[in-house]
Amino acid sequence: MEKPDIAAVIGAGIMGHGVAQCLAENGVRVRLVDQSAQLLDRARQWISDNLDYMVELGRLPAGGPPAIRARIDYVTDLEPALPGVGYVLEAVTENMDVKRQVWQQLGQHAPADAVLASNTSSYDINELAAGITGPGRILGTHWFHPPQITPCVEVIPADRTLPACVDWTLGFLTAIGKVPTVCRSAAGFVANRIQLAMAREALALVEEGLATPAEVDRIVKTSFGFRLSAFGPFEIIDQAGADTYRRVYEYLYAKMPREAFSPAALLERQVAAGRTGLKSSAGFYDYGPGAADAMRRERDRRLYARLDLCRSEWGMSDAP
Ligand SMILES: NC(=O)c1ccc[n+]([C@@H]2O[C@H](COP(=O)([O-])OP(=O)(O)OC[C@H]3O[C@@H](n4cnc5c(N)ncnc54)[C@H](O)[C@@H]3O)[C@@H](O)[C@H]2O)c1
Repeated sequence: MEKPDIAAVIGAGIMGHGVAQCLAENGVRVRLVDQSAQLLDRARQWISDNLDYMVELGRLPAGGPPAIRARIDYVTDLEPALPGVGYVLEAVTENMDVKRQVWQQLGQHAPADAVLASNTSSYDINELAAGITGPGRILGTHWFHPPQITPCVEVIPADRTLPACVDWTLGFLTAIGKVPTVCRSAAGFVANRIQLAMAREALALVEEGLATPAEVDRIVKTSFGFRLSAFGPFEIIDQAGADTYRRVYEYLYAKMPREAFSPAALLERQVAAGRTGLKSSAGFYDYGPGAADAMRRERDRRLYARLDLCRSEWGMSDAP
């Protein structure tokens, strides 16, 4: 798979320094851009500390960090950072005006054949890309914190992004060990809509005095959070039963009549069609002969593996 020889990361904050590190770990030369030498020094220090800790954890050979560090150049001017780059990640502050200014510059000065991506958490890529030269090369690549570790990158084409640009991006991200998934451009994309809905309820629970932040965290980490790296929400509905989910929504909605708890039309249709999940051999996924049993075994295999990992962590210090 094709990787760019050179990439530019604009914004050396929480996300930008981690993406730069990840690219450099994978052999890509990186120009990391921010507004001042101080901000760049901070990023350099963060990357240095991260790499040293990777050696301590046995994830890098002792001689690894110098070569990785040497692949990153730290620059305060955007324009000179752009010649020859194959991938640009805009990771500046989540502020439409600030981002639009950077995008104007990228449109004018980035190579015509470079893929230009935004790391925005929430803005529609069509809004960011509006009026920028060469819209076929613009898309979102939404990395997740900490980006040098977390596998997912949401790949978000805008209306005018060329399919070849999407394909190249998927290939490149896969080649550096990420798990990219395409989703359509709309405010919040996929992960943040779900994540923010969860955070909203967590905040409301504390506000209503039902649990402390530590109690909410403990419950989430040891319940559905425990399962979530093994199974996504649709797999979990299939395992639990869509009919059970619907009944719970009905009760919650009666008690708390707000949008978040109204039974979704899609769920109603699943139940009406008898697609309740593993127990009926069909849900959001199809479970042909033997597949439901195989899935139950797979569920147990994955969850026991995570249980061992969690117990060893909780035994150390972070008892949830
Ligand atoms: N923090 C997260 O968990 C997270 C996760 C995924 C996506 N994002 C997104 O990534 C982007 C960056 O977020 P962050 O958390 O790294 O923010 P941050 O505030 O830590 O860093 C942003 C950096 O951009 C720099 N910057 C601002 N204007 C600039 C310009 N014109 N040229 C060069 N640099 C400039 C700032 O000086 C700062 O260092 C945002 O769009 C954010 O929504 C953040």
